[in-house]
Amino acid sequence: MFKEKFSEGIITAKQFDREDIEYILKKGNEMMKIKNSNLLHGKILATLFFEPSTRTRLSFESAMYRLGGNVIGFHSGDVSSIKKGETIADTIRTVENYSDCIVMRHSLEGAARMASKFTKIPIINAGSGSGEHPTQALLDLLTITEEIGPLDGLNIGIMGDLKYGRTVHSLSILLSNFDVNIYFISPESLRMRNRDIDFLQQHKIQYKEITNYRKILNILDVLYMTRIQKERFVDIEEYEKLKNFYIFREDDLDDTKDNFKLLHPLPRVLEISPEVDASKKAIYFKQTFYGIPMRKAILAELMTD
Ligand code: NCD
Repeated sequence: MFKEKFSEGIITAKQFDREDIEYILKKGNEMMKIKNSNLLHGKILATLFFEPSTRTRLSFESAMYRLGGNVIGFHSGDVSSIKKGETIADTIRTVENYSDCIVMRHSLEGAARMASKFTKIPIINAGSGSGEHPTQALLDLLTITEEIGPLDGLNIGIMGDLKYGRTVHSLSILLSNFDVNIYFISPESLRMRNRDIDFLQQHKIQYKEITNYRKILNILDVLYMTRIQKERFVDIEEYEKLKNFYIFREDDLDDTKDNFKLLHPLPRVLEISPEVDASKKAIYFKQTFYGIPMRKAILAELMTD
């Protein structure tokens, strides 16, 4: 059922309803119990990364190898024929002949959707400009459900660059399927974009937009922090003004609930002080672990015959 519904791949978090999310979280949980298997033996995954990546590309590749499959790909547009002027469409039409599924990251917001129009094999959006990063959001939910428990009833703060941060767009779309209270915390100029807010309003999600996180720290179950997305700023001086806007420090933890958890998709730059890392409440490195079972689950669903 999942395979049929997602036959074009995973382009946006909007493809998922609550049932789909619960299904893939269950599959992610099951994948934690089997480290290696031969489920995708003989299958080939292509990873086409036109933008930098550490966790997303390596965890997709590791997940594919752990399922017994193989990987081809490139980690920069500079080493592919895109550099010679080839279009994304022609690249996709070619790579389709060499692989069973394509994971793609690109700086253009509509890139993954566009790519999916030129191929019959599934496309997985591994980050499309400031738009979306749906598989990161799925692994974020796996992290929360495994480390805290069911999503319904949680108070979740989402903080940082909410305008350009693609992970928070996908995360809030997925969360709109649950009964959660969201606090969007950002500088005024980096608030959630109207189109994202409109979607959440249509889905009747409970949210508030605020700037000072200290006011609500004591009620949060989860705080999901993000980096100010330097590469998306047109004006670098604007970035310089905002880059230190939030710095979560060790003493901030004193105001949090006992079972509070701090998440971050990483890379972290300045926004979480390194001394926070030692706290049990800081689970962003555990979060990187959950990328493997979640991506194994996704690859298995899309590629098993
Ligand atoms: C994020 C991304 O690329 O959008 N990283 C990731 O995939 N874990 C977050 C970011 O770059 O800030």
